[in-house]
Amino acid sequence: MNFSVRKFDAVIVGAGGAGMRASLQLAEAGFKVAVLSKVFPTRSHTVAAQGGIGAALGNMGEDNWLWHMYDTIKGSDYLGDQDAIEFLCRKAPEGVYELEHYGMPFDRNEDGTVYQRPFGGHSQNFGERPVQRSCCAADRTGHAMLHTLYQRNVRAHTHFLVEWMALDLVRGPGGEVLGVTALEMETGEVSLFQARATLFATGGAGRIYAASTNAYINTGDGLGMAARAGIPLEDMEFWQFHPTGVAGAGVLITEGVRGEGGYLLNERGERFMERYAPTMKDLASRDVVSRAMATEIKEGRGAGKDKDYILLKLDHLGEDVIEKRLPGIREIARKFANVDPVKEPIPVVPTCHYQMGGIPTNYHGEVVAPRDGKPEVVVEGFYAAGECACASVHGANRLGTNSLTDLLVFGKASGERMVQYLRANLGHRELPGDASELTRSRLARLESQTSGESVYEVGGEMRRVMQAHAGVFRFPDMLVEGVRRIREVSERAKHTGIKDKSKTFNTARIEALELDNLIEVARSTMVSAEARKETRGAHDRADFHQRDDVNWLKHSLWYQDGDRMEYKPVHLKPLTAASFEPKVRTY
Ligand code: FUM
Repeated sequence: MNFSVRKFDAVIVGAGGAGMRASLQLAEAGFKVAVLSKVFPTRSHTVAAQGGIGAALGNMGEDNWLWHMYDTIKGSDYLGDQDAIEFLCRKAPEGVYELEHYGMPFDRNEDGTVYQRPFGGHSQNFGERPVQRSCCAADRTGHAMLHTLYQRNVRAHTHFLVEWMALDLVRGPGGEVLGVTALEMETGEVSLFQARATLFATGGAGRIYAASTNAYINTGDGLGMAARAGIPLEDMEFWQFHPTGVAGAGVLITEGVRGEGGYLLNERGERFMERYAPTMKDLASRDVVSRAMATEIKEGRGAGKDKDYILLKLDHLGEDVIEKRLPGIREIARKFANVDPVKEPIPVVPTCHYQMGGIPTNYHGEVVAPRDGKPEVVVEGFYAAGECACASVHGANRLGTNSLTDLLVFGKASGERMVQYLRANLGHRELPGDASELTRSRLARLESQTSGESVYEVGGEMRRVMQAHAGVFRFPDMLVEGVRRIREVSERAKHTGIKDKSKTFNTARIEALELDNLIEVARSTMVSAEARKETRGAHDRADFHQRDDVNWLKHSLWYQDGDRMEYKPVHLKPLTAASFEPKVRTY
């Protein structure tokens, strides 16, 4: 196997919001930047983001970045890094105004300003009452954002390599990152993309669960590549279950429905969120709402013949509001739940949606890892942004809308940092002789194995184990058993086979390579979850029911080598604001 070498100043893996915001920064600064994407850029998973971008513009009433910062820290159950969160909330308005000036078709108020809707966990005056902070384009905000960023990148001459899957990180003798290997999905051709700076913006990995709002492309490729290259994964035990996935289908129904005035009902027709979150009710943070829904179902108050879902009522909003603000939801409800929400409630269940953890970075998007006794040393030439990264602004639970804010703010910040780095470090470094060795051995294994279980069977087992053992509620014996079973699945994944290669499309190879990545994400999740002996944010343990700030106010780091866990401190000191001390979290 001879791999051709292609040289760029910068390589970005992933063409979602974070990748394209970063590439824009680099291309506009005159650098030769390649963006590798498994799908056409405007089909990246950002396209599925519905409800909006969190930014304290104050268009609908008083608001400011400090309230946004407080909400985000509280939402994170105090695990978020306060320097990164201050950076996020202060920069958010600028990110939205930039998009507006690029031509993004936001919804508008009568006075021409961007319309903003309420969203879960976002409040005025440090939790007093809900605030309207989510800047949206109906319920298709991600779609509008991707098209805007793509067009802007075309104008800036970004090089898009469409239907290319990155395979492995290339590191130099000192651990510095020198690029990636990648496979062209149509032809099977493999190239080494040599770069002076490499950014991962590969999105999430929700496909480790059986029920997920995530697209099939969300296979944690960046996390798998990082883990195989010896980079730890941070806070992987924290997975967000979105309260409103369509029951049985998993498709997302935006929280914007509740922002616009919809609410949840149990089978008795009770607005049960009033009991769980008296102030914010249906607009409490997602971990709180999902747990309340799961409790209602567990205690026999679910709707339907099997009492296994909750009802999302919005018919009282009227057809005009639904058509204007939530047209996509009406279409999804009709197609996937066979109900018209103008007339009937939508059956919904908490569904895996977002990973709070990921590749550890600082708030400039630089990847950091422990070295020489220091908890956070920059890995030279390596950056990550968006859902695959852990800055960490979401801590143990992300607030709705902060994912789009995250990818805008940290996409731009990492692009800016890469520009600085490229200006200071001229010329490509020499590639080591074994630069492509890992990729060669993975591909050779794929080619040589004709017997063995199918990727489909092993992947299915992984998803069943994750769903049963690491869901909304977590139990000690189930976690221990989950670790055993996921390690077993992980072994089985090494021996999958493709039977008749002459009749096999490259998609089968791609799925096998994706499984390698999913397995790392699944294992890191289960091992980190078993190890964390407390309840915090989205990680709810039946045996340690309280948050434990004495022993567990720290970030987890999982290493692939030996399933090893390490921990590092939370940044409790913001950049300029006063620290928000951990306190009891109620909504
Ligand atoms: O509910 C939603 O529209 C999802 C938004 C988000 O995850 O931020």
